[in-house]
Amino acid sequence: MCGIIGYIGNQVAAPILVSGLRRLEYRGYDSAGIATVSNKKLRVYKSQGKLAQLESRLPKRVAGKVGIGHTRWATHGEPSDANAHPHVDNEYRIAVVHNGIIENAAELRKRLQDNGCSFRSDTDTEVLAHLIASFVKEKNIQEAVRHAIAIASGTYGIAVIDTNDPTRIVVARNGSPVIIGLGDREMFVASDVSALVRHTRQVVHLDDGELAVVDANGYSTITKDAIPTTKSPDQVLLQADAYDKGSYGHFMLKEIYEQPEAVARTLSGRLDEQFGTARLGGLNLSVRDLLNIRRIKILGCGSAYYAGLAGAHLLETLTRVPSDAEPAAEFRYRDPVIEDDVLYIFVSQSGETYDTLAALKEVKRKGGTTLGVINVVGSTIGREVDGGVYMHAGPEISVASTKAYTCMGIVFALLALHIGRIRDLSPQEGQRLVTELKQFPKVIEQTLKLDNRIKMLARVFYKYKSAFYIGRANAYPVALEGSQKLKEISYIHAEAYPSSELKHGPLALISSAVPTIVALPNDILLDKSISSLEEIRARQGRTIVITNSDDNRVESLADELVRVPDCDSTLTPLVMGIPLQFLAYHTAIALKRDIDQPRNLAKSVTVE
Ligand code: G6P
Repeated sequence: MCGIIGYIGNQVAAPILVSGLRRLEYRGYDSAGIATVSNKKLRVYKSQGKLAQLESRLPKRVAGKVGIGHTRWATHGEPSDANAHPHVDNEYRIAVVHNGIIENAAELRKRLQDNGCSFRSDTDTEVLAHLIASFVKEKNIQEAVRHAIAIASGTYGIAVIDTNDPTRIVVARNGSPVIIGLGDREMFVASDVSALVRHTRQVVHLDDGELAVVDANGYSTITKDAIPTTKSPDQVLLQADAYDKGSYGHFMLKEIYEQPEAVARTLSGRLDEQFGTARLGGLNLSVRDLLNIRRIKILGCGSAYYAGLAGAHLLETLTRVPSDAEPAAEFRYRDPVIEDDVLYIFVSQSGETYDTLAALKEVKRKGGTTLGVINVVGSTIGREVDGGVYMHAGPEISVASTKAYTCMGIVFALLALHIGRIRDLSPQEGQRLVTELKQFPKVIEQTLKLDNRIKMLARVFYKYKSAFYIGRANAYPVALEGSQKLKEISYIHAEAYPSSELKHGPLALISSAVPTIVALPNDILLDKSISSLEEIRARQGRTIVITNSDDNRVESLADELVRVPDCDSTLTPLVMGIPLQFLAYHTAIALKRDIDQPRNLAKSVTVE
């Protein structure tokens, strides 16, 4: 979603701002803009559409060694030049970029209009520009921002520049990330580490309710009540290359191929062979706490929710604690009963998804015990949960989640092992799973060899207008995630059903024009899954079967058989997900889609 970048130092700001915006493109946006200050004048350039459109509007040299930039994903007001950020006040003194939503914008807009302000856009952000300007006449820019955010309610990450004081950028955060990047006599601000990592690896994360004044040589932070705070910088551990496509044509393909190393990182230092368990230092739960759990509830959105469904199967199988998953937004709006013997697990790659965060706040408010399964270290959800397990999957840039999804599954396996071994899972079972997990990066490496086979399949598959994905029990989340991948990036209509539900409705649509992708593990439900294949075949439906079974019946019933490597049945769903990632990718390539930035979607959805 929206992205922020800011620069102050000795270099000309505009090229740094534009290249920062390029790094934020992956989040999803529909307009972009920059503002700099030079000779006490604001220079503002904005454009609807992609960054290239903004660049075509920029003069050869945009003066100014201080500036802010923004990629906008429309919420209040359509994508247009006028609604693009930065927004300015009537005197062209203040420029603001903003991620989030100002909830009382309508009321503030009216009040400001009554006082003579004229508005140029439909955005909530423009309210902030006028509001700050109304205070800055009597106060310095930091105080003006502080007074403005005391009145404006909602979520925000903002960066503000003032023509009367071009030696500083003021930033503030409430619910939307703001990071300060520390350089050598130059400083950066951004909403996302990826925009900074080319310039510096020393970063400071603002907390909710904090403001910072950033100049070329340093920064100072205060709370919104003007109490000074002390921050210590964090070191970004990943290399800048981790944020690049390298030799791959798309981030999605790169990230699919990164899965063996990503999973190895998730597992690193966490497997205990001697006791057949997992070492998870960040749970902040005692053995007694874990013994007292009677139920596990997993919450997330999109692929994180599907990973949660897969995780619930794994947890219930290995720990015998009843477990289920629910979309975070559904959960929070149904006034849920929160119990103290339930463990609430929040799953999120970005750690910033609004609905997941809101569900977390609801659970915390009612006293529930919370854990996070998060990728981005230092993210909002990562910091708000009582404890958790970071995935360490590395940056995931493509909107369609691949390696983060798989690593979420691995974290659930680790959690299941850890909780299971405290309860009834035997040491032998635990040790067997530890051995399986140790080998798992190799199993994924093997599975990646299916790339070419699936590429061939996609040459025909891309012509279909609609597809079903089915699976039973722990293979049902595989179907859900597989169909999600396909629709996200190829725009082919796809639906997922539990195999058993086929005959209760979808069968009416099965024909030679609607293929079914079947996730078919070699487990005790094999015979039942084979019956589903027969039902489809009897209606002239074509099937692509993803399986680790070598049963002859499967082979003879499937139109296309994709055999995945064998491994422990609890981990098989993760392996079966990989050919479905390839299928979505190659189909979308055949259809010439924008793989990494599909239409209408954002990587991290930080609004409702
Ligand atoms: C967006 C993305 C999905 C992602 C979901 C949850 O909708 O497009 O790919 O699964 O958000 O994101 P999270 O960062 O919470 O895992």
